[in-house]
Amino acid sequence: MVKAVGELIQGRPPALLIDKLGERLQFERSGTRLYEAMIAKYDAEGGFEGGPSRADLEAIRDDELRHFDLLRRALERLGADPTAMTPGANMIGLASAGVLAVAVEPRIDFGQSLQSLLVAELTDNDGWRMLIDLATAYGQDEMAAEFRVAEQHEARHLELVRSWLSSKLALDARGAPTTTTPQKAA
Ligand SMILES: [Fe+2]
Repeated sequence: MVKAVGELIQGRPPALLIDKLGERLQFERSGTRLYEAMIAKYDAEGGFEGGPSRADLEAIRDDELRHFDLLRRALERLGADPTAMTPGANMIGLASAGVLAVAVEPRIDFGQSLQSLLVAELTDNDGWRMLIDLATAYGQDEMAAEFRVAEQHEARHLELVRSWLSSKLALDARGAPTTTTPQKAA
């Protein structure tokens, strides 16, 4: 894939890369809000056995925020405006609005809302992979190396979210309640 894209874009201005960076930037911004919403729900309802702790959710939120900053800097290095709404950013903004709506909906409980994290993290993982391929094709090796680190974080997020959802499924299968006493942060 890298070679094919590389041949096509040789010598062209990085418009496609800027669009995809804008798309990822928008998604990481939404991801930060998504985890914020889940932290608020956790504070209101509490977690469950085998589910995330507040610290788990905070750590991922912080990763998403760092990724947002990484993308902002990448766009600035290319001389692009990180606040510009690129077509990709517009599209992903719409898509992530639905995901975020699940997390903020009070009638959907904390355990059920975890599904929104799975949707986000699956997209995140593929999104970073495509961005790494594209940055490599544009000869942005340093950028691609930075993005590989972010991709590793995202792989870990996905692993965690999957384990939380498996625990929830096991609890549901046993007919156990999936929320415990709210645990406020100190
Ligand atoms: Fe993530």
